[in-house]
Amino acid sequence: MSNRYAVILAAGQGTRMKSKLYKVMHPVMGKPMVGHVVDQAQIVGMDQIVTVSGVGAETVQDYLGDKSAYVLQEEQLGTAHAVKQASSVLKDKEGTTLVICGDTPLLTAETLEGLIEFHEKEQAKATVLTAYAENPFGYGRVIRTEEEGVTKIVEQKDATDEEAKVKEINTGTYCFDNKALFEALELVKNENVQGEYYLPDVIEILKKQNELVEAYQLANMDEALGVNDRVALAQANKVMKERINEKHMRNGVSIIDPSNTYIESDVQIGQDTTVEPGVYLKGETTIGEEAFIGAHSVIVDSTVGDRVKVTSSMLEESIMGNDSDIGPNSHLRPQTVLEESVHIGNFVEIKKATVGKNTKIGHLTYVGDAELGENINVGCGTIFVNYDGKNKHKVIVGDNSFIGCNANLIAPVTVEKNAYIAAGSTITDTVPENSLAIARARQTIKESYFTKMKQKD
Ligand code: UD1
Ligand code: MG
Repeated sequence: MSNRYAVILAAGQGTRMKSKLYKVMHPVMGKPMVGHVVDQAQIVGMDQIVTVSGVGAETVQDYLGDKSAYVLQEEQLGTAHAVKQASSVLKDKEGTTLVICGDTPLLTAETLEGLIEFHEKEQAKATVLTAYAENPFGYGRVIRTEEEGVTKIVEQKDATDEEAKVKEINTGTYCFDNKALFEALELVKNENVQGEYYLPDVIEILKKQNELVEAYQLANMDEALGVNDRVALAQANKVMKERINEKHMRNGVSIIDPSNTYIESDVQIGQDTTVEPGVYLKGETTIGEEAFIGAHSVIVDSTVGDRVKVTSSMLEESIMGNDSDIGPNSHLRPQTVLEESVHIGNFVEIKKATVGKNTKIGHLTYVGDAELGENINVGCGTIFVNYDGKNKHKVIVGDNSFIGCNANLIAPVTVEKNAYIAAGSTITDTVPENSLAIARARQTIKESYFTKMKQKD
């Protein structure tokens, strides 16, 4: 195996996206397109990955970090010009260089590996990855002759009517002999409809020098999708979504309706977990085994344990311990930690709080900035009053306490363990261990009140 390098083209402005966000930073199932491309190149194993980024593309570098080296293409003069920017890093290297467009997020490591192996076995100077497209519009067409095989690639805008009929397209991914690539790049001209330096022209240049140029055909056009606009972006999301769902199903996850289930790229799910329709699992989320994620739940950057049941609820940056349950219609906001076997019922909102084992918060409750121990029962309609208009304060509730319905716990305040709070109480001071706090007006009765009122009429 020779040395292997990859150049990722990511400097194009992406005019057709009509977006403030750099084209290659648009996410496909939660991961920027350029992230998918670089991750697949990394799986293949590269001695060096060089990303060509444009002016103002700090986001690309911030995102990829040390996965790649970077070169700058100050002006976007075309894909050949973009690759040329990497000459300072790669020009003198012996080996194979893979060039991939940052807007082809569906390419897989297996395809890249197949392409490199084919290229090296054939000892070609250039191998272009091609695919058959039912609708080739917008792609470069691969022109072949019977005697010579691949002779050149013609862009959509430069194609004759005859050339435009060709359905074999350039995927924008190529394998080159590194030195031959950088020598040929010197010869690329911009005499075409767009006035750009086209990388595909390297194919024709090498061919004319009688070098061996090959094409490696993709079985599946899905992988070739180049995302130039939002319509293609939606298509890429659809294909990636199906791929991700299939992977989870093959790993033992039941997905009731895969076409209506959205699981982002880095999410992990344990065996025998069931995911119902309309669920969106995002970011760095991990779901345990034998869990149940009910219809229309949204889980973002959260960790959900084994046998957890989530019913139509939203979780953000939260942790749910094993055997806990939530919902329907509840919301865990960032920094919520539920330990094992916690029950959260309907219409409960929890923010920045830890909730101990076996604690139950069944209905219509707000818990914010709090520490709750084990075996607590929080009654319906309880409010943790954490905000005084300027600052947030904390409520601490000890183990085995019982908070009656419709209580207000005004922070900062501590309810010690084994304490009872009478329903309707507004608690402002420490409730000592083993005690009952009643903080409400006593009931008074006015006898015969109805009759008196009637007499006044
Ligand atoms: C390109 C190919 C086309 C192929 C298609 C596959 C050329 C001239 N055409 O067309 O044959 O079928 O990809 O998807 O190469 N970029 C730069 N600097 C530039 C211009 C582009 O870094 O100056 C980057 C872009 O960020 C993008 C990639 O190169 O990631 C491809 O550019 P794009 O404008 O999308 O080319 P296509 O028109 O799609
Ligand atoms: Mg493109």
